[in-house]
Amino acid sequence: MIIYREVAVLKNKIAETRQYGKTIGLVPTMGALHSGHISLISASIKKCDITVCSIFVNPTQFNDPTDFEKYPDNISNDILMLENSGCDILFLPSVTEIYPAGTDRQNHYDIGELEYIFEGKYRPGHFQGVCQVVHRLLDIVDPHYLFMGQKDYQQCQVIMRLVQIIKCRAEVIIVKTVRENSGLAMSSRNLRLTEEQKKSAAGIFKMLMYIKNNFTTIPIPQINIYATDYLLTNGFQKVDYVAIADADTLHPVNDLSEAARLVALAAAFIGEVRLIDNMVLTD
Ligand code: PAJ
Repeated sequence: MIIYREVAVLKNKIAETRQYGKTIGLVPTMGALHSGHISLISASIKKCDITVCSIFVNPTQFNDPTDFEKYPDNISNDILMLENSGCDILFLPSVTEIYPAGTDRQNHYDIGELEYIFEGKYRPGHFQGVCQVVHRLLDIVDPHYLFMGQKDYQQCQVIMRLVQIIKCRAEVIIVKTVRENSGLAMSSRNLRLTEEQKKSAAGIFKMLMYIKNNFTTIPIPQINIYATDYLLTNGFQKVDYVAIADADTLHPVNDLSEAARLVALAAAFIGEVRLIDNMVLTD
């Protein structure tokens, strides 16, 4: 695996790769890699000739500065995991390589309602920051395919909107969520949970399974209340949302007739740690 830190040098390599007719896959990450990230790398290796993983903790997507400062940093382990996975290129830029003109947002991306609902509501500005960095990475790497994890369902919808807005030729590939045996979705944030908290955290998956098994028989507003109560009585201290939404637009629904495909989405706290998860209800 070759590590690039400079945009100009990576761009030369990419131009050369494209000249030879090779397909390029991009997997953007913020590091602290786990098996969830590696499943994206594996999907890219399977589909593309060259896989580029970026590790960049993007300051513009953190609405909480302490979250940014506390973001886990384990670059030597990340490099080892990527080497073992068969990744071809690691892009490891500095903030000035990504934002030579500073971190102020020049662009506003019109992502519609996605900006204000669910994660957008609780993390104002977050998705604009995500769009800003992914736009920049797409410009630099110019991949044929962009691999994103279903774990961050709303982020996937935002990125699909972004590629349309910026008329990017990359195809977005969504990779399904990798879970622990307990059902807990793998996440860099799980590192901040104690063993006891980790056991409780699996409750979010159990709750989503409950919704999947019951959403056709229990009215949606009621199922949302049951699900919230379940979390609050099973180790979660605060629930930001539990909702069923149109799987394509993420518009919340109160009745099954309102959308053809549905997804259940949740965000809740165990101690200080905010966890998100989701489950597609209709395949
Ligand atoms: P990060 O949280 O590092 O996640 C990088 C990618 O890994 C995302 O596409 C995310 O959905 C995926 N991922 C995380 N956990 C996963 C799991 N358990 N199973 C499958 N995929 C998983 O998401 C970001 O970084 C950033 O917002 C980024 C897109 C890199 C922009 O800065």
